[in-house]
Amino acid sequence: MKVSDRRKFGRTKLEVTTFAFGTAPIGNIFKPIDEEVSDGMIQSAWDAGIRYYDTAPMYGHGLSELRTGHSLRWKDRDDFVLSSKVGRLLKPKRRSEIDFAPWNNAAPNEMVFDYSYDGTMRSFEDSLQRLALERMDICFIHDIDVFTRGTDQPEVFKTAMDGCWKALSKLRDEKLVTAIGVGVNEWEVCQAALEQRDFDCFLLAGRYTLLEQDSLDTFLPLCEKRNAAVVVGGGFNSGILATGAVPGAKYNYAPAPDDIMSRVRRIEAVCKRYNVPLPAAAMQFVVAHPAIPSFIAGTRTVEQLEKNIEWFNHAIPTEFWADLKSEGLLREDAPVPVA
Ligand SMILES: NC(=O)c1ccc[n+]([C@@H]2O[C@H](COP(=O)([O-])OP(=O)(O)OC[C@H]3O[C@@H](n4cnc5c(N)ncnc54)[C@H](OP(=O)(O)O)[C@@H]3O)[C@@H](O)[C@H]2O)c1
Repeated sequence: MKVSDRRKFGRTKLEVTTFAFGTAPIGNIFKPIDEEVSDGMIQSAWDAGIRYYDTAPMYGHGLSELRTGHSLRWKDRDDFVLSSKVGRLLKPKRRSEIDFAPWNNAAPNEMVFDYSYDGTMRSFEDSLQRLALERMDICFIHDIDVFTRGTDQPEVFKTAMDGCWKALSKLRDEKLVTAIGVGVNEWEVCQAALEQRDFDCFLLAGRYTLLEQDSLDTFLPLCEKRNAAVVVGGGFNSGILATGAVPGAKYNYAPAPDDIMSRVRRIEAVCKRYNVPLPAAAMQFVVAHPAIPSFIAGTRTVEQLEKNIEWFNHAIPTEFWADLKSEGLLREDAPVPVA
């Protein structure tokens, strides 16, 4: 499988490449990335034939959208697919007065949650201006999950299913966006949204990976039935499935706990037997699911990106997947790539 292979994006007319470029790192998450490295990664992704890019107002308080737009805006607009998100408005403020964590040297904007109709319209237009693009192909309602909103989540979800839904449906009717959906860290929230509204797609972060497949129970089958596309972000679980169980490995944006470290070590032992790089398995596993057309990978350097592009294409024998299943490291019913 090549990163440039194209797949239909659910019920829409869009086609995405099986490998997508994730832009959370170029929002300077945890530590800064130079402008040249940011642009270099996007140009390398382009040269490799990658044509799907995912960004959000949240990433670096606008910095990721600015950088993504800078690198893409002179490309043929019909030659790539871009997703961004709504749910946070950015308001200029002095850097010294902003709590940027976990971002670093981000853009000088304060972030304010807003899932109302007017807030969604404003967020959408602000994003297009930061990107300097005239349309978004995909727009996700961002972070209406318990992971981000804690006990406020039920109220936030209700507001978004009304305000964001109405605004995004209108924008879709006006052809300013082609596909609308929800981008969160919990499949349960995606499922609740699809049960209430006719969304085209979802960005599920970290919840369908080599380390966890609970979304196979009900959510992914529902997406197949409704022909809703699911793209997976955080598919390395923020690092450990790319680096392996090394000291300091990250799981869900924090140091990996012991149980995750030992599970990854067991997966790595199977990888070693078959000479399969762990990240190759992590990426190829995800896009073997028929509802998932694309794996959105974050990278910090051109070297990381080039390795991921190579690993995406690494041949993996069928026996490798069978061993993961027989050792209880992968669900029996998980679809796996055909060699
Ligand atoms: N709610 C949402 O909608 C949501 C949530 C999460 C993610 N996303 C999207 O999905 C994208 C991907 O998620 P993510 O970037 O958060 O996490 P990820 O793809 O799971 O992990 C990215 C991190 O893995 C490490 N990595 C990647 N390739 C590597 C390699 N070849 N060698 C060593 N380390 C490597 C890097 O860590 P270091 O930086 O430590 O080197 C990189 O920053 C995001 O950029 C974003 O576009 C969306």
